[in-house]
Amino acid sequence: MDKQQQDALKKAAGIEGAKFIEDGMIAGLGTGSTVRFLVDELGRRTQEEGLKFTGVTTSRRTAEQARGYGIEIVDIDDVDHIDLAIDGADEVDKDFNGIKGGGAALLWEKIVNENSDYNIWIVDESKVVDTIGAFPLPVEVIPYGAGHVIKRFEAKGYQPVLRLDAEGNDVRTDENNYIVDLHLGRIDHPQELAEDLINTVGVVEHGLFLDRVNKVIVGNPNGPRVLTVSGK
Ligand code: A5P
Repeated sequence: MDKQQQDALKKAAGIEGAKFIEDGMIAGLGTGSTVRFLVDELGRRTQEEGLKFTGVTTSRRTAEQARGYGIEIVDIDDVDHIDLAIDGADEVDKDFNGIKGGGAALLWEKIVNENSDYNIWIVDESKVVDTIGAFPLPVEVIPYGAGHVIKRFEAKGYQPVLRLDAEGNDVRTDENNYIVDLHLGRIDHPQELAEDLINTVGVVEHGLFLDRVNKVIVGNPNGPRVLTVSGK
């Protein structure tokens, strides 16, 4: 699939996702190129149809885009709950376990996900995999002592790489932390890995999102498929 085709599928998933946002909702808005299409559609509905909702965003980037359309964006601590959060994902398996954080926003994404009554992911079909892990797993790490965290990961065979930007500078998250990407190839035991990572001192959060989604909207050439996770 080339980038143009992939973007068309992301856009279709974003537009489908936007249908779930209703007047008066408090909505979590994720981060990434698929969410950009979602926010464009919500912006269109705000301006053309008078849609009115309050947004909480998982990054400064998304807040800026949404405010550009006149969407009201507030701090997460200014709302007592989030009705629905819509976000992208880097990989999703058949059990709806996901990897997120390709855009370095996993910490705020997990906080918004955790505090939302309902969670939807919007992805193109290339993100749906049998086993997660081909996509490098992002881990948010405090800069102080990060070199030691990376050595620990190396010793465990996690193949960590400190994320750098195009100019070779370390990428900083919205909380000014580093992202370390783990090149694992495949993750057969995500729950065990998640526990190991979160128990590593210096790790703030990781991009394994396990049992955290209610619906996944998959853009595919025949139109978006809406998958509802059973029992959720
Ligand atoms: C941001 O940190 C990520 O979790 C994104 O949601 C994820 O990387 C998907 O991004 P794209 O929609 O750009 O593929």
